[in-house]
Amino acid sequence: MGQFIIQGGQRLQGEVTVQGAKNSALPILAATAAVRGTCVIHNCPRLTDVDATLDILRCLHCDARREGETITINTAGICGGAIPDSLMREMRSSIIFLGPLLSALGRAEMSSPGGCEIGQRPIDLHIAAMRAMGVQIQEDGGRLHCHAPEGLRGARIALSFPSVGATENIMIAATTAKGSTTLTNAAREPEIADLAAFLNRCGARIHGAGEGTVLIEGVSALTGTDHTVIPDRIAAATFLTAAAITRGDVLLRRCVPEHMDAMIALLEQGGTRVHRQKDELRLTAYSRPRRLPTVRTMPYPGFPTDAQAAAMVLAAVADGTSLIIENIFENRLKHVAELGRMGAHIRVEGHVAIVDGVAQLTGSQVDACDLRAGAALVLAGLAAQGETTVRHIRHVDRGCQHFEADLAALGAKIRREA
Ligand code: EPZ
Repeated sequence: MGQFIIQGGQRLQGEVTVQGAKNSALPILAATAAVRGTCVIHNCPRLTDVDATLDILRCLHCDARREGETITINTAGICGGAIPDSLMREMRSSIIFLGPLLSALGRAEMSSPGGCEIGQRPIDLHIAAMRAMGVQIQEDGGRLHCHAPEGLRGARIALSFPSVGATENIMIAATTAKGSTTLTNAAREPEIADLAAFLNRCGARIHGAGEGTVLIEGVSALTGTDHTVIPDRIAAATFLTAAAITRGDVLLRRCVPEHMDAMIALLEQGGTRVHRQKDELRLTAYSRPRRLPTVRTMPYPGFPTDAQAAAMVLAAVADGTSLIIENIFENRLKHVAELGRMGAHIRVEGHVAIVDGVAQLTGSQVDACDLRAGAALVLAGLAAQGETTVRHIRHVDRGCQHFEADLAALGAKIRREA
């Protein structure tokens, strides 16, 4: 099961190097399936979700090997196009293999990912877009059987919601489609631009990634390249929040401040000082956080839903009442109950959390229910009086690379128990 044991009250001080972005590494690694030859991907974080992605590539007869934070993929042997249910269940975002397999093989078979802890996670936008590009899709007992009898064709696709995963699947599928694809209302997250940069280095012709409208001109094939994954803006925000709630002084190395404007603004409005440099951020906090302005999670560049749980922990110890509104996922407030066990005063009305800040949280035994909630509970333990046990940390291991080691290097009293 795995748990973290945390003794709260330590002021975090020092430096930490930010990991590579999980939500960039996963689609880029999946996209290598659409590339002929060898790709070398640097700055890949050591995460169980990355391991699950490599398992899928190997199941598709690709050669995938890791050396440190560099992963080398050779797709010469790719065949089959079917991903077993057992591997799909390991990581619901495996739906991102749909576009790559259709591009590489003209067919794909996988399970509908199904819901997870934070919501139903539908894939209707993915399915509609693939059908618009000439893919025939049958669903049979939870399995998707997809094939493009005449190959993929370019299309004009307007997303009803700027879905990150749908934008990624469409971009990848369109790289080798016949003709051009115009995608409107595309997701603008930095990870989208990173994926496009990788694909363009492979010979794709993608224009406008990271903006609302993306144009992809189909090419005959993609060839291998090397690429370095961008830093993880959510991991960076987690460490900044840890510094803010422990009245610490932390320097982040190898981050991208311009990817974090919404999060930095919130931390500054909470009373901390954030000093930006080229690829570094330094946060110093001397007092209890001030009441936060209302947090509304939105598609990028709005406040990211993945940082909502960390923002709630900051609000939970702030001097005043803050509102946190979760607009992206329908079930992403489950950490409220766990924070309540630590003495937080939070009421939930629908998808709005009303957080009455308390001067001090109290250590308790709490359960991680998803990746970001689990990391936020660790932050709460850092600020709490006494000992906190965070259980089910397999969720945290999905997205936080050597989390406890980095926090301990900053002065936290935290250890992992199997
Ligand atoms: C990506 O998930 C991220 N995951 C999520 O991070 C992140 O929270 C999310 O984008 C939003 O930023 C990865 O990149 C691996 P969406 P994704 O499609 O692509 C609805 C984490 O903790 N929707 O943008 O699944 C959906 O229900 C994870 O690192 C449809 O209705 O997110 C949700 O309400 C959690 N139909 C909204 O869109 C669809 O076909 C956003 O989903 C697809 C999505």
